[in-house]
Amino acid sequence: MFLGRNGVSASSTYWAERYEKIHKNLVKRTKQLRRAKQELTNRVAERKLVEETLRQAEQRYCSLFENPVVGIFQTTPSGRYQACNQTLARIYGYQSAEQLLENLTDIGRQLYVDSERRCEFIERLHSCDSVSEFESQVYRRDGGIIWISEDAWAVCDEDGMLLHYEGFVTDITKRKLAEEALQKSEAQVRSQSKELELALNKLQRTQIQLIQNEKMSTLGQLLASIAHEIKNPVNFVCNNLIPASQYAQDLLALLALYAKYYPQPAPEIQNYAEAIELDFLIKDFSKILSSMQMGTDRIRQIVQSLQNFSRLDEVITLADLHEGIDSTLLILHNRLKAKGDNKPGITVIKEYGDLPLVECYPGLLNQVFMNLLCNAIDALEELNVERFESSGNNMPPLTPCIWIRTEVVGSGLNDGTNSAGLVVVRIIDNGFGMTEEIRKQIFEPFFTTKPTGKGTGLGLSISYQIVVEKHGGQLRCISAPEQGTEFALELPI
Ligand SMILES: Nc1ncnc2c1ncn2[C@@H]1O[C@H](COP(=O)(O)OP(=O)(O)OP(=O)(O)O)[C@@H](O)[C@H]1O
Ligand SMILES: [Mg+2]
Repeated sequence: MFLGRNGVSASSTYWAERYEKIHKNLVKRTKQLRRAKQELTNRVAERKLVEETLRQAEQRYCSLFENPVVGIFQTTPSGRYQACNQTLARIYGYQSAEQLLENLTDIGRQLYVDSERRCEFIERLHSCDSVSEFESQVYRRDGGIIWISEDAWAVCDEDGMLLHYEGFVTDITKRKLAEEALQKSEAQVRSQSKELELALNKLQRTQIQLIQNEKMSTLGQLLASIAHEIKNPVNFVCNNLIPASQYAQDLLALLALYAKYYPQPAPEIQNYAEAIELDFLIKDFSKILSSMQMGTDRIRQIVQSLQNFSRLDEVITLADLHEGIDSTLLILHNRLKAKGDNKPGITVIKEYGDLPLVECYPGLLNQVFMNLLCNAIDALEELNVERFESSGNNMPPLTPCIWIRTEVVGSGLNDGTNSAGLVVVRIIDNGFGMTEEIRKQIFEPFFTTKPTGKGTGLGLSISYQIVVEKHGGQLRCISAPEQGTEFALELPI
């Protein structure tokens, strides 16, 4: 046995040292191992964290794909779904995405209400690579129709080969229905405001017509009172003219007797007789008296016409229409007579039929006759002025004529039925007539072709109202350019 200095053997020292070295190594190694373990634990924890993050991301992606408010799809170029999310299935009325993929196999034919829409969709994708807010109507699984809006794009591989289309679908039915409802209500509001505008126009016209009627009735009252005031003194003159001419005849007879029995009167009488031209006076006196008689008769006629014309009866009465027409013509006498070379008189040709008395508002009908006759006179005056001016003052004026024809038509007497028929009054002129465009508007209030100040454009519209609304009759107009004009006034008997 080998021993050391302190009696310890050399081999035991060696082993002690050895042991110590090994021990140190062991401690060192253990430390290293611990560190490695710690590192490993850290790495595992890190990995777990990454895994968790990954899992969460996947979950988020899945939830994003499956639960969004928009449908997501991927379709083949031939028109079949490759993939879609649950929302798309729900929008199209399927229970699951699988059910949709299985059943919806031809998009163009099965989905779009208008199959052309699919073609447009593809064309747009090809020309622009993507489409946005492409709106269409599509069928749901149960056949119901909804509105969708699509945003889509084409997906190609690295070589540019088309792989598929993908995109989003939004159900916009509610918005579309709301838009439609809005449009409808807008259209309704527009039509209501149009109606209101029309009603307002009508109201304004009626108001103006009322004012015009009121004026006419005031004018009528004025005419009636003037006629009444003139009538009494004229009657007085007229009635006294008969005894006055009788007295004159008697005095002349007495004078003749004096001349017979006293052929040689005193020179003073003889001189006076010569001074007053007695022979001429005797001849002229009776002429003067008869012309005075004629004059007063005419005044009486005119007064009578004024009274007829301004009849204020607001109640329906039986009236002689010819009397009304004649009164109106008499009032218009001044406008009918000739005024110089280029304004010849207007010939009125009356072709009166056998008319019964007609139940009517005579004052109002006279107003109609007045309007129609005034229009005819205006047309005839204008025609001649135009002819005269256009011919360089050479062309002789036309013979302006107004025909007034009256007749009964459709009466049972003529056709064997019980119908009482119609009274028709035609007022025809050979004036310049009117174009179809003008003819269509003549009964509209304020339509006039006459210069400002000459025509208000109310004559015919008021006449129409009187004939149609007040009498249940008709007022028709037949006219063509250069062909004259005919107004036919029809009144039920
Ligand atoms: N006999 C006619 N010949 C040609 N045009 C006519 C005739 N009668 C009416 N018209 C046309 O019809 C339009 C309307 O006639 P209406 O009597 O309503 O109004 P007006 O004569 O112009 O004016 P107002 O009668 O109010 O003074 C006239 O401006 C004219 O163009
Ligand atoms: Mg007129």
